[in-house]
Amino acid sequence: MQDTVNNALWLAAKQAAFRPGPAPYTAPRGNEVVVRTRAVALNPFDRHLQTIGSLACPWLKYPMVVGHDLAGDVVETGEAVTRFRPGDRVLGLAGGADKQRNRAAEGAFQDYVVLLEHMITPLPAQMSYTQACVLPLGVATAACALFQDRFLALAPPQAQPQRRNETLIVWGGSTSVGANAIQLAVAAGYDVLTTCSPGNFGFVQALGARQAFDYRSATVAADLLGALGQACCVGAVAIGPGAAAACLDLVVAAGGVLTVAVVTPPATFDGIPAGRGRLRKLLPTLAHNATGLLKLAWRAKRRGVAVPFVWGTALIHNEVGPMIFQDYLPEALARGQFIPSPPCQVAGHGLEAIPAAMALHQAGVSATKLVVTL
Ligand SMILES: NC(=O)c1ccc[n+]([C@@H]2O[C@H](COP(=O)([O-])OP(=O)(O)OC[C@H]3O[C@@H](n4cnc5c(N)ncnc54)[C@H](OP(=O)(O)O)[C@@H]3O)[C@@H](O)[C@H]2O)c1
Repeated sequence: MQDTVNNALWLAAKQAAFRPGPAPYTAPRGNEVVVRTRAVALNPFDRHLQTIGSLACPWLKYPMVVGHDLAGDVVETGEAVTRFRPGDRVLGLAGGADKQRNRAAEGAFQDYVVLLEHMITPLPAQMSYTQACVLPLGVATAACALFQDRFLALAPPQAQPQRRNETLIVWGGSTSVGANAIQLAVAAGYDVLTTCSPGNFGFVQALGARQAFDYRSATVAADLLGALGQACCVGAVAIGPGAAAACLDLVVAAGGVLTVAVVTPPATFDGIPAGRGRLRKLLPTLAHNATGLLKLAWRAKRRGVAVPFVWGTALIHNEVGPMIFQDYLPEALARGQFIPSPPCQVAGHGLEAIPAAMALHQAGVSATKLVVTL
């Protein structure tokens, strides 16, 4: 396989422009699997790695290849791999930007990607690559929030969930992370209350949320607490601008588990350009973020609430990664119990289409995952 021609979407240096170009083919070792990518999905963090990657992930080595979400075909496996063989159709989480992986060969935006066996799930025959590739970072981030010990530490998802009289709040249920959090929590037996725009109420309820409320409504907190009633609240997952502060108040008022798994930082890094005008936008955003985090930490401490910040690839290194990608998802996808969500919208073909798709994503999506086929 060493003479296989590979191509990648390169980020040559911090804040450089993305450029497609030739890349080495990296053979798998140990528990690694090489996948020929057929479809990738876009996440806000893929863009942020270009604009603020050197601040958010100071360990990054350049040139690097970004991208977390992919589906494709296994072409080669390391000597310790037992679950896959060449020709298998799979989805997987690419961990190239993760601190302990940190290598270009593991970024999703290339033709041949090195993945870890325990972060790969086989695709059911009827599921397309474009449908499947929406899952990895969304489900990984949701699982980090829900199941890691320092976070909500919920019971694991099951093929046959046992209903519990316990309720989880998912603020931002129509986001990629939220759609996965709803489904995982329901599969673990919890009742879910969520927020999103009214146009997405049907979407989140079809995923299993009991009720949805508009996060822009002045009465959203009272509405959520009314729907919660006497049920025990097992905490909240805070996704979207303003979610952490709102969830903090909610879990205190609900009086159950005082933990909010924070997915979205206080300030959005979306508007920061990679080039001209960067510092002018970056400095106030960093200041806003720092004050937002301090304020949140101070309010949380005073009220006895834990507000751990989620890092969506942390599960690569603990029991939650295999619990989701190896033990839960294969059967849940095959049985149609877990639906890759939000639904995909194909935004182009080829590595060169990814930067334009990133710009489209930055302009805003609603209950949609943008996907590029390769
Ligand atoms: N910490 C981590 O490791 C990690 C990993 C992945 C993502 N994230 C963060 O998680 C957030 C979601 O990412 P994603 O990829 O899942 O998003 P996404 O699917 O691209 O988000 C689009 C959705 O955001 C919703 N939204 C917009 N403003 C909102 C608000 N104020 N409250 C609640 N929902 C709101 C919209 O809902 P409606 O259309 O229904 O209004 C829309 O459906 C982002 O902030 C992202 O940076 C963090």
